[in-house]
Amino acid sequence: MVDLSNKVCMVTGATSGIGLVAAKALAEMGAELFLVCRNRDRGERTVADIVDHTGNDRVTLLLCDLSSLTEVRDIAQSFLNYKRPLHALLNNAGVFNFNREITVGNHEEMFAVNHLAHFLLTNLLLDRIMASTPARIVNVASEAHWFCKGMNFEDLTFKERFKALKVYGHSKLANILFTRELAKRMEGSGVTVNAVHPGGFGIRTGLGSQNGGKAKILSLLLKAFLNSPEEGARTSIYACTSPELDGVTGRYLKKCREKQPKPWAKDDVAAQRLWEVSAKLTDLPVS
Ligand SMILES: NC(=O)c1ccc[n+]([C@@H]2O[C@H](COP(=O)([O-])OP(=O)(O)OC[C@H]3O[C@@H](n4cnc5c(N)ncnc54)[C@H](OP(=O)(O)O)[C@@H]3O)[C@@H](O)[C@H]2O)c1
Repeated sequence: MVDLSNKVCMVTGATSGIGLVAAKALAEMGAELFLVCRNRDRGERTVADIVDHTGNDRVTLLLCDLSSLTEVRDIAQSFLNYKRPLHALLNNAGVFNFNREITVGNHEEMFAVNHLAHFLLTNLLLDRIMASTPARIVNVASEAHWFCKGMNFEDLTFKERFKALKVYGHSKLANILFTRELAKRMEGSGVTVNAVHPGGFGIRTGLGSQNGGKAKILSLLLKAFLNSPEEGARTSIYACTSPELDGVTGRYLKKCREKQPKPWAKDDVAAQRLWEVSAKLTDLPVS
């Protein structure tokens, strides 16, 4: 087991599924943890569960609904106020909606939570991460990027032609393009940036469960084909900790191996454009 006793890690979306398993594993390896969760009860239960399970009590809850960019700014500042280094940031939280939902900031929710919130959080923490090298940023993407053959720059909120799988895939494509562009920008800094697919056809987690009866039936039908959250978390844990990945950056990983994403997820012009658009949408300086 890798020894993380001198490391500080942050995991978004640690209350269930892949994030919970990954957070437990990092705690087991001795890391000090900051967990970004939106619900106080679920967050506190998660902290208690991790402490009970691992005996590691260096776990801090940061409350944030990632659909609000204001809340993202607030928790980034709260974290910076702790004056702790940050050696691994696991951008894991995600949402899958059957219907078009709009956030308080007027963004389509899957794009806002899965991409924009993590883009903003990462950028706000970047100086601290760069001061903590060697450090890693891991973005949980998905093979779902297959469903969307390019960024929908003309209509990022999908006012026209909303199709759930395509829009979810669009947000996961954004995760991979963000990874590529950030890796390029971090070249030589000691910060590596990689994207992961949790593996297999899908993972048995809470993803999409808020969509009601239809989602329940679908998850029952698919259950036999899905992998466990433990299997799903393996590549995230590997990307955050494995010495095999020292210095390895800008990759897309599946089953703890490099994999080539679809050609439209390797479009560096789109990656740069997404960076600029995301900076504008999150009020960060465009550079
Ligand atoms: N499951 C799969 O088959 C699969 C496949 C490929 C990729 N992925 C990706 O894996 C990642 C983890 O998903 P999962 O499958 O483990 O699903 P999950 O069990 O539903 O976990 C998602 C996590 O994200 C959190 N979250 C969602 N919306 C949030 C918000 N607005 N603010 C703060 N936290 C929020 C959830 O918190 P709450 O407990 O408050 O809801 C939960 O902790 C996602 O990025 C997903 O896209 C999953």
